[in-house]
Amino acid sequence: MSTGSDILLSVRGISKRYGGVQAVKGLSFQLRRGEILGLLGPNGAGKTTAFNMIAGFVGVDEGEIELDGRRISGRKPWDVCAAGLARTFQLSKPFGGMTARENLVVGSLVKTRDRARSLSKADELLDFLGMSTLASTDADNLTAFERRKVELGRALSTEPSLLLMDEVVAGATPQEAMVMVELIKKVRDRGVTVLIIEHVMKVIMGLSDRVIVMNLGELIADGLPADVVRQDAVLKAYFGEDYVDAGA
Ligand SMILES: Nc1ncnc2c1ncn2[C@@H]1O[C@H](COP(=O)(O)OP(=O)(O)O)[C@@H](O)[C@H]1O
Ligand SMILES: [Mg+2]
Repeated sequence: MSTGSDILLSVRGISKRYGGVQAVKGLSFQLRRGEILGLLGPNGAGKTTAFNMIAGFVGVDEGEIELDGRRISGRKPWDVCAAGLARTFQLSKPFGGMTARENLVVGSLVKTRDRARSLSKADELLDFLGMSTLASTDADNLTAFERRKVELGRALSTEPSLLLMDEVVAGATPQEAMVMVELIKKVRDRGVTVLIIEHVMKVIMGLSDRVIVMNLGELIADGLPADVVRQDAVLKAYFGEDYVDAGA
């Protein structure tokens, strides 16, 4: 059930502290239905921690997260997944000892117990990923990029309304990266809203409708990709004070 509101995800003032490190501090942003939103920020900015809070992998110290008008903060990852959120990991983790097809069947069991339906959905997704010929290959024997695609397929097999992707092209060749960009655009065309963490500028710029930037746990920019990458605060976060003050 959808509320029909334009806003799919609403993050309001979430924070997380690890010992002496304030990993995320009062982070707020919204994600519109059908949008591809890029999350940028230097290493250690708090991006993965923010993802983990949204996906329910770590609890929020404070703040609130709503998906489709329902509170998901404080709920367990499998509840958050059933509510319509799926994710991929910075280090891809398909299930080893299972074929590509089986990996996709497992995901679909979140939404259906119908075996025939989950098998046909797995095959449709393998086709979507351009991996039909690898259906019976064990995930352990796939290339790193193929494993990434299986992980994407497994996330899609849960029929999410929102997909979170953490550094999808890490370790990919430039050519593979462009294949992934086209796939993610097609994912959005399937009606899935996308929040993506990515370091590779070419990927973020070519893919995102809007980007937000974090630094030291806080949001420092929110806007169109081309505008945000010109902002002083963003350049300082990435390259340091000197770079910007020198008028570079
Ligand atoms: N499980 C954890 N335990 C302790 N510190 C953590 C943990 N996860 C993240 N941190 C710290 O929180 C900060 C933000 O990390 P992270 O969210 O991984 O940033 P990013 O994904 O932007 O690189 C870093 O200083 C990191 O060392
Ligand atoms: Mg990270």
